[in-house]
Amino acid sequence: MVKVRSKAKVNAKSKITRFGVIPAQAARIKTIGVLTGGGDCPGLNGVIRAVVKTAIAVYQWRVLGFEDGFEGMILPGKNLDLDHETVRGILPRGGTILGSTNRGNPFKFPVERQGKTVALDCSHEVRETYDRLKLDALVVIGGDGTLSIAKELGTKCGLQCVCVPKTIDNDLNATDVTFGFDTAVATATEAIDKLHTTAESHHRVMFVEVMGRDAGWIALYAGLAGSAHAILIPEIPYEITKLVKKIRERESLGRKSSIVVVSEGARPKGGEVSYLRRANPPFDLVRLGGAAQRVADEIEQLTGKETRVTVLGHVQRGGSPTAFDRNLATRLGTAAVHAAARGEFGTMVALRGQAVITVPLREAVDHKKYVNPQGEMVQTARAVGVDFCSADNEDRVEPSHS
Ligand code: F6P
Repeated sequence: MVKVRSKAKVNAKSKITRFGVIPAQAARIKTIGVLTGGGDCPGLNGVIRAVVKTAIAVYQWRVLGFEDGFEGMILPGKNLDLDHETVRGILPRGGTILGSTNRGNPFKFPVERQGKTVALDCSHEVRETYDRLKLDALVVIGGDGTLSIAKELGTKCGLQCVCVPKTIDNDLNATDVTFGFDTAVATATEAIDKLHTTAESHHRVMFVEVMGRDAGWIALYAGLAGSAHAILIPEIPYEITKLVKKIRERESLGRKSSIVVVSEGARPKGGEVSYLRRANPPFDLVRLGGAAQRVADEIEQLTGKETRVTVLGHVQRGGSPTAFDRNLATRLGTAAVHAAARGEFGTMVALRGQAVITVPLREAVDHKKYVNPQGEMVQTARAVGVDFCSADNEDRVEPSHS
């Protein structure tokens, strides 16, 4: 069970302002830092903006930004003062004004030694920077990798971190949804909508590969919204003969084109994921890619139908965040500052139902959130004729009218 922390209690030393109750312990903070780590996603700027505006307006704290994730706390000259002027106009902008990297783990920091890249523990440099700049708290915006680092910096180096979850993949367990996901789904859905018409013109089977690593959320949500005929996700290993059957059924009903959404982590039953580059531990994860092309080649061979593949790639990570993501980013950024004011360190802010709460970091990073193959979303998709090409015979096999 995730423990929900209580709101600040009003005591003699608390102040009541037009922003609400200012807890007494907020006075212990003068300066906070903020950084973005891991892969970027739409909404990061919204969080940075909310952190800066809330910290200055509500608490009169100074805010320092660090560039390129934790690298900004290790290498010199990579921090800057953030104020109202620096964050003006950034809410609708994708990316992060602070920059980001997925190679900046301070415990395994990449350093060149005699022509080779080796991993060094530079966590003490992070602590030194924290002390030198007189930080009282650090807001860390990131996915599971970055949040795990923040947790370690808290337990091993004593940094007072409050984290904000981000990822287009939506695979973080302790929050209902991560910002960036809604925008990625909107981008993918728009692409699928466009592919329908060209697929129909040429009587082709069109494959769309979307991101998500080992979670099929983007494929499921965009596939359902874009009325795809089949969706292949990592959580439901597929059987190619099921897809052949689906395409033939559609043909027999006079539907000469089909749309198949393939999550980058999809794999055939008993088979492996497709990747472009192997993992290079501890610096790089395996680079996924090629899942849709693999299925398309097989389908062309087995059905004789013409196929085409569209890989959406990093388009899903870019662009202006949707209104939903802007508001979620803003709520989480403000909530992170309030959590710091209450002294709730080693936590992550999260969306639960309609509420923004804080949860212990441990619970946020220990488990990932995957699509439930028997869950309501998958069953709804099945009910309206979407085929997951499940190897376990869970999909409807009678001719569908989708
Ligand atoms: O985790 C987010 C994500 O966009 C994944 O969906 C994707 O596999 C990965 O990042 C790509 O990361 P990179 O920036 O290293 O290409």
